[in-house]
Amino acid sequence: MTSQSAADIRPLDESAELLVDDPTWWRQAAVYQIYPRSFADASGDGIGDLRGITSRVPYLRDLGVDAVWLSPFYPSALADGGYDVDDYRDVDPRIGTLEDFDELSSVLHAAGLRLIVDLVPNHTGSGHAWFQEALAAGRGSRARERYIFREGRGEHGELPPADWESIFGGPAWTRVEDGQWYLHLFATEQPDLNWADREVHEDFLTTLRFWSDRGVDGFRVDVAHALAKDLGEELPSAAELQAMPQDGRHPLWDRDEVHEIYAEWRRVFEEYSPPRTAVAEAWVGSAERRARYASPQGLGQAFNFDLLEADFDAADYRRIVTENLAQSAQTGSSSTWVFSNHDVVRHATRYGLPPRAGRPGKQGADWVAAGGPDEGIDRELGLRRARAATLFELALPGSAYLYQGEELGLHEVAEIPDDQRQDPAFLRTTPETRSDDGLGRDGCRVPLPWARGGASFGFGEGGSHLPQPSWFADFSVEAESDDPTSTLEMYRRALHLRRELHGAETLTWDDALSDGEVLVFERTGGWVCATNFGDEEVPLPAGEVLVASGELGGSEDAAGGARVLPGATTVWLRR
Ligand code: GLC
Repeated sequence: MTSQSAADIRPLDESAELLVDDPTWWRQAAVYQIYPRSFADASGDGIGDLRGITSRVPYLRDLGVDAVWLSPFYPSALADGGYDVDDYRDVDPRIGTLEDFDELSSVLHAAGLRLIVDLVPNHTGSGHAWFQEALAAGRGSRARERYIFREGRGEHGELPPADWESIFGGPAWTRVEDGQWYLHLFATEQPDLNWADREVHEDFLTTLRFWSDRGVDGFRVDVAHALAKDLGEELPSAAELQAMPQDGRHPLWDRDEVHEIYAEWRRVFEEYSPPRTAVAEAWVGSAERRARYASPQGLGQAFNFDLLEADFDAADYRRIVTENLAQSAQTGSSSTWVFSNHDVVRHATRYGLPPRAGRPGKQGADWVAAGGPDEGIDRELGLRRARAATLFELALPGSAYLYQGEELGLHEVAEIPDDQRQDPAFLRTTPETRSDDGLGRDGCRVPLPWARGGASFGFGEGGSHLPQPSWFADFSVEAESDDPTSTLEMYRRALHLRRELHGAETLTWDDALSDGEVLVFERTGGWVCATNFGDEEVPLPAGEVLVASGELGGSEDAAGGARVLPGATTVWLRR
């Protein structure tokens, strides 16, 4: 794989340069999430790297996305796929160097694409210099104040300070050599930072400036709703914690004062032109609580996972869209839409699960609840619905966050032997305790197939750090390119059209054409999106067909609107 330099890359279109200073670029951006270890491997060591990404910038440009979000690429022990950061201002040597980062940034920008990096402020990795210092310095030291250390319960402090369980399973407190315990809401290797400590604040401001100075356009903020904590003297039990409302005063989650942190960050974002942007990952109770993260005085935007958690259902989709557009009109932010990311079972697979109340679930719960990876999944239907859902999403006002591989219609990979799984959500649980986290998240993190064949389907010369299944051949970029019926070509066409078509951040439901199983809405300029959520075909609304998620039935020549919109299909039309 050859590396690309800025000079080799043709800009996306003639106006790319004009966009550079546009402070509103994020409002309706299509953002493509890259999981760097699994995207493209230029060095041939089986792990994706920054030079691999740089070599694929032409692919991203031709796909038609507006920005790239990089999941963590920082030095890390990889206890949680890089979300255990040992140094916030460097690149993991397995992934590249700061020079590689600068090159990627300039090649992306030359192609008219923005760059967003992932920031992980709730916890560091246990290899971080601060945590190592805290371990060495002992109880009562200044170094321990940056984290959350406590004495244990029991006669000799041999019991954890509380019976809390970590998000990945297993205890949330771990004892260190001198007998104190520290809090980790996630894996043992992810000690929670103490955001009551001023130095923690200062250091993150330095990190924000470090990447902003290097040309980063925005930040994705990991677990944004957990930074502020108030544990008090007496810790509640796990059951008590669970019963407490998340109304801004919960000891751990979504506390009101977390927004003071983001107001501070906002002042840094505004030091730059255009201002740096941010999007919060905040799994909070209501759209109203989420809106606080998206405020223009705070992070500016927040992920809305409502569609990701919804069934493929017309009424649910309509309610979610209406609520979220109203919410963003009120806050001045723009809506965000997500179907897949590195934490959930891919939507092509979720939508093929057999019907079940509450499906599909976050973190793959239903993947296992459905009876295991291969039982009862209708992959064809799943992909058909996923394509219809995506085309619906791309027509909505606001920004769409896409996850690498969804443009190929990839399914979750089930065929990963237990001893090759890497996710702590899998490793920290047993089959008995695994009901919530399923098989973990490795199945959506398998390196991408670029070619039909070769050692790792074109991912790199040196194999792949997670095993790729043989069916990847048919889902490869090579197999799907230039096939007008492929998922990849549908994404390409829709993303390019979307850029031309989207205007005002509003939509109008067409109530004459929408019914129980069909949703039709219009954006500005006569751009219409129609989705049939049912199984039976319905008449195709009038207009010139721009792109469809599946083959449209009926005859094009037939007069009088004889064409049909089949079940689980979305079409864009121009009136
Ligand atoms: C976020 C990330 C997830 C990670 C966790 C802990 O939810 O998306 O991948 O495991 O935070 O950092």
